[in-house]
Amino acid sequence: VLASAEPRSSDPIAVFDSGVGGLTVLHELLVSLPHEDFVYVGDTARFPYGDRPSAEVARFSLELSKLLLERERAKLLVVACNTATSVALHPLKVGLAAAGHDIDVIGVLAPESVLAVATTHNGRIGLLATPATVHTGAYAHAVESADPHVRLVSIPCPDLAPLIQSGYLFDRRMVDTVRTYCAPLSAAGVDTVILGCTHYPLVAPMLQRTLGPRVELISSGHAVARRVEHALAVAELQSPHEAEGDYRFLCTGDVEKFRELGTRFLQMPLGEVAHVDLQTEVAAQ
Ligand code: DGL
Repeated sequence: VLASAEPRSSDPIAVFDSGVGGLTVLHELLVSLPHEDFVYVGDTARFPYGDRPSAEVARFSLELSKLLLERERAKLLVVACNTATSVALHPLKVGLAAAGHDIDVIGVLAPESVLAVATTHNGRIGLLATPATVHTGAYAHAVESADPHVRLVSIPCPDLAPLIQSGYLFDRRMVDTVRTYCAPLSAAGVDTVILGCTHYPLVAPMLQRTLGPRVELISSGHAVARRVEHALAVAELQSPHEAEGDYRFLCTGDVEKFRELGTRFLQMPLGEVAHVDLQTEVAAQ
């Protein structure tokens, strides 16, 4: 077992995702924790994760996390990807501990579920997420443990994230796709909808229009930022710097494409983006 160094307050916070979608989570982290440094890795060469087998997502997640922790020396790890959190959060924590990494690992699922339960009035919550995320039942479990009286209606959305990623955000096909996935939620009378995938905040206005103004949309960024803040405070690992922190990016696929798509997801200028090669072969899609 490798003994890794103690985390230091001046180390960056590491964030990983299956691609550029996690930049919607990083956006909230940058807004809420402006003095922190961040390093982000997007596994764009192997995107999407949402229809991959669990074991594969777990393997990829451990590989990305080790890369971040061993190369970049981070003080805390955020799993920005809903699919990776649902499928792999527990095995990831075990795998990192076995490799000697003693850091807090924060996923997007629990903070979002707790917020949704606190928001609903009629006890009916909807979930839009990738098939992999829905099939783990991880959101159903998290909502149930927050409040056993709340009912969760889960809708797997196989083509929503890839469609958003393709860049045609505001065309007819997107509106039709959004309508199809929202219809069963409206029929079930939910008053709160969890956006259970990093990409969905980009089409939040379309979802809101389809679901109606009385439905509350819950995305993970804000709730995760609060949890990161708590974890740093308790461990006394807040950045000692008074100035704004730095952020930089790694991706497994094409750097130019990451830069182009990434700005749209981050809604802030992207700084440095570097390519990284991974050990594991990209599985044929
Ligand atoms: N980051 C992924 C998620 O939140 C995007 C979709 C995918 O990789 O399939 O589930």
